[in-house]
Amino acid sequence: MPTLQWIGKDAVVNHHHKVPFHLLKDVPELSIGDPGSGNLIVEGDNLVALKALLPYYAGQVKCIYIDPPYNTGNEGWVYNDNVNSPVIREWLGKVVGDEASDLSRHDKWLCMMYPRLQLLRQFLRPDGVIFTSIDDNEVNHLRCILDECFGANNFIADFVWEGALKNDSRFVSISHDYILCYARDREFLRVNQSRWRTRKEGVDEIYLKVEDLKKRYGADYGKISKELRAWYSGLSKNDPAWGHRHYNKVDQRGVYFPSDISWPGGGGPKYEVLHPITKKPVKVPARGWVFPSWERMAEFIREDRVDFGEDETKVPTLKRYLHETEGQVLPSVFYKDRRAAMKRLRQLFGKDVFDNPKDEEVLAKLFEAVTEGEDVILDSFAGSGTTGHAVLKLNKQDGGNRRFILVELEPKIAREITAERVRRVIHGYGDTPGLGGGFRYCSLGEPLFDERGQIKPSVRFGELARHAYSTETGEPLPRERVPNTPLLGVCRGVGIYLLFNGILGDKSVDGGNVLTRTVLENLPKHDGPKVIYAAGCRLGRETLRAEQITFRQTPYEIKVT
Ligand SMILES: C[S@@+](CC[C@H](N)C(=O)[O-])C[C@H]1O[C@@H](n2cnc3c(N)ncnc32)[C@H](O)[C@@H]1O
Repeated sequence: MPTLQWIGKDAVVNHHHKVPFHLLKDVPELSIGDPGSGNLIVEGDNLVALKALLPYYAGQVKCIYIDPPYNTGNEGWVYNDNVNSPVIREWLGKVVGDEASDLSRHDKWLCMMYPRLQLLRQFLRPDGVIFTSIDDNEVNHLRCILDECFGANNFIADFVWEGALKNDSRFVSISHDYILCYARDREFLRVNQSRWRTRKEGVDEIYLKVEDLKKRYGADYGKISKELRAWYSGLSKNDPAWGHRHYNKVDQRGVYFPSDISWPGGGGPKYEVLHPITKKPVKVPARGWVFPSWERMAEFIREDRVDFGEDETKVPTLKRYLHETEGQVLPSVFYKDRRAAMKRLRQLFGKDVFDNPKDEEVLAKLFEAVTEGEDVILDSFAGSGTTGHAVLKLNKQDGGNRRFILVELEPKIAREITAERVRRVIHGYGDTPGLGGGFRYCSLGEPLFDERGQIKPSVRFGELARHAYSTETGEPLPRERVPNTPLLGVCRGVGIYLLFNGILGDKSVDGGNVLTRTVLENLPKHDGPKVIYAAGCRLGRETLRAEQITFRQTPYEIKVT
């Protein structure tokens, strides 16, 4: 596979392994509502934040949406659209070294993106998916590094989002940008027959109307259908329900459209079908029936899925119900005026606070297609918090309980825009009612280990426990599990133990943190192989073998990065 080269690449390809693990520090005064809601906003550089989140979310995220700086050259926006913020400049200097001064703006952007994409991939579930917004400035480079990090065979689509036209360009009015989409494992999706669908817009409006008509006309479906057609004809063409106006008949099963019952292209069978009332053979369509056999047709008639005319002179039709065709596939090209999202954000804050926010309605559609239930959605370039807004909106719409994780570098943006927007969406603003929910707000704490690889004294048992468990097993400790015993969990039949900070009650240095015969007897039992992390071990090789124990010495055998 062809790969992209750039100055600084060698320094960053494996950099994600070297990023030290940091702790997350709660900022309760910026958290909102129920901290157990599972929603999280993290303030800080996403490289460090993602590494800190890995022990909790590796392999757990269903959908990642990112909208990194497009590298347009514009530094006058609220955020820095180049790779030029002081934090990132300093990071590049450290990681790339002397070469950093020779980097072009594309080199810098690629150096910034590559290790972050490598980390992001580790968050995805086997059926997970990543969407990345980008425009012409970096799309060619991004596609190459996504191919490298996610595998070219996992490419799904390059969406083209057309916004409003501008008429001030010298050559061509560029009115679109892109959303590149890759699966974590496209083959996994195929084998599991995954299908991405969104609910057609306007459908609920039609159901509401029909319910209303049923209240008025009971089971008089002829009258209900007539009134429904009259209602459609009064709708504006921009109304999403207008697009479904061919669903204009109603029966006890629901709203349907009378569709063609003939064999596509002609040459279908022409067996006899009797009209249910006149008992005479009905008119056969010129192309023959769509069903190859009378038995199949009879099945549909029995189920009341064939719509006969008043008498045998009319060709019957097939009932296609709206509730059976609600799902629609995502189009790879779509139009959504960008100014609408800016206007809504302006209304939410009462002023302009952020340049070029994405549209929460567009993101909600993407999330609707690929997530459900309690799925986790991650956005590590959160900006104005559009992803959080979209998740809350979608949950409200379909009763889901999806959770979001947002990461934003700039403290001022994270606090005053990202978190503030989500707060207003939760509580309501102006005439807009709140959607409910909550989030935990965290900043980045200190590293877990000091420069000599020693565990920092401030580290608590639970923090080291999550870290040791996830680096040992490659999986996070289940979210609901509170690590408050030395047996952290059992993974693939192996019990993972940690002796640290006197978890067994013995605070002496050589006591509860060292694996002795007495300590072993007091450990919660696991019948099978065990991995035990402890500061020392006084058991002989034979005992370890007999007890199926693999001993790992803290801190040296805990992965630091
Ligand atoms: C293009 S904006 C995202 C806009 C967002 N999608 C929205 O709809 O508001 C990119 C954001 O990523 C942030 N950012 C840039 N580098 C980052 C990093 N290393 N870690 C976390 N956030 C970063 C910027 O501060 C900016 O707010």
